[in-house]
Amino acid sequence: MLFGKTILVTGVASGIGARTADLAGQMGAEVIGVDVREPAHGSAAFIKGDLSTPSGVAEIAAQLPTRLDALANVAGLSGNTGVVSTLAVNFYGLRALSEAVAPRLREGGAIVNVASIAGYGWRANLERAKLLTSIEGFPDVAAVAAEHGLKDEQGYPLSKELLLLWTMRAAHQPLFKDRGIRVNAVSPGPVETPILKQFRAVLGDARVDSDITRVGRAGTSADIAPAVLFLCSDGGRWINGANLAADGGLEASINADVLGF
Ligand SMILES: NC(=O)c1ccc[n+]([C@@H]2O[C@H](COP(=O)([O-])OP(=O)(O)OC[C@H]3O[C@@H](n4cnc5c(N)ncnc54)[C@H](O)[C@@H]3O)[C@@H](O)[C@H]2O)c1
Repeated sequence: MLFGKTILVTGVASGIGARTADLAGQMGAEVIGVDVREPAHGSAAFIKGDLSTPSGVAEIAAQLPTRLDALANVAGLSGNTGVVSTLAVNFYGLRALSEAVAPRLREGGAIVNVASIAGYGWRANLERAKLLTSIEGFPDVAAVAAEHGLKDEQGYPLSKELLLLWTMRAAHQPLFKDRGIRVNAVSPGPVETPILKQFRAVLGDARVDSDITRVGRAGTSADIAPAVLFLCSDGGRWINGANLAADGGLEASINADVLGF
């Protein structure tokens, strides 16, 4: 499905990003990895870069080849470093990289954003998400957080709510749509990676364990990577602006509670 394609994967030094890069390579793609940390292993081309600042994003973009087929936005923070860094990496930096990469993506290329079940509240918090996604470019995130009274504990779910809303907006944005670039999201539930320990600290064991109990086990990176790569591939060519839950049925179970069926 990916033979001959070049795919940029962020967050490649750990967890879901590392597995996505490995699998893409096994499926025949050339992979370029991005991370703020050096990966311990992997043969993919690697760009060390920091998505948390406008200059960091610009430095990454300057090192990219002129033609790419897909961008998998996997890098993310758990929220344990506060709302400013979390919104910067998980949303504003991700969006800035996507906008910088768009002109290099071939017609009919794809962007896949790894969101989360933690972004489930985007509908309930729609006005806030509309406001914060309508801020253009890579803003001064500290100023945005101060202006809107955003608290550290809100950082992770908020970043994923913004990402889910922007995914739908971007699918219709001329920068992407005019060249047939699809923009989709994959939303995992709890996945056994280093970030899960941090979620336990931020969200509490009870919340994480209840999510795991609903679906019988935590996911693994190998459960998520194929979903990301399917949406990167031409097999997903008529899927655009969608959010694919890769969570063992967690979202369906929460929907049943919330919507009462
Ligand atoms: N593991 C889970 O339970 C879970 C659940 C839902 C969603 N997710 C999402 O999946 C994605 C991947 O998470 P993971 O589980 O693989 O976690 P992870 O901590 O194993 O990997 C995250 C990677 O992002 C990189 N990164 C962090 N800040 C960066 C920056 N400023 N610039 C560049 N790279 C940076 C890290 O160095 C790390 O390699 C994240 O977006 C996360 O929110 C994870």
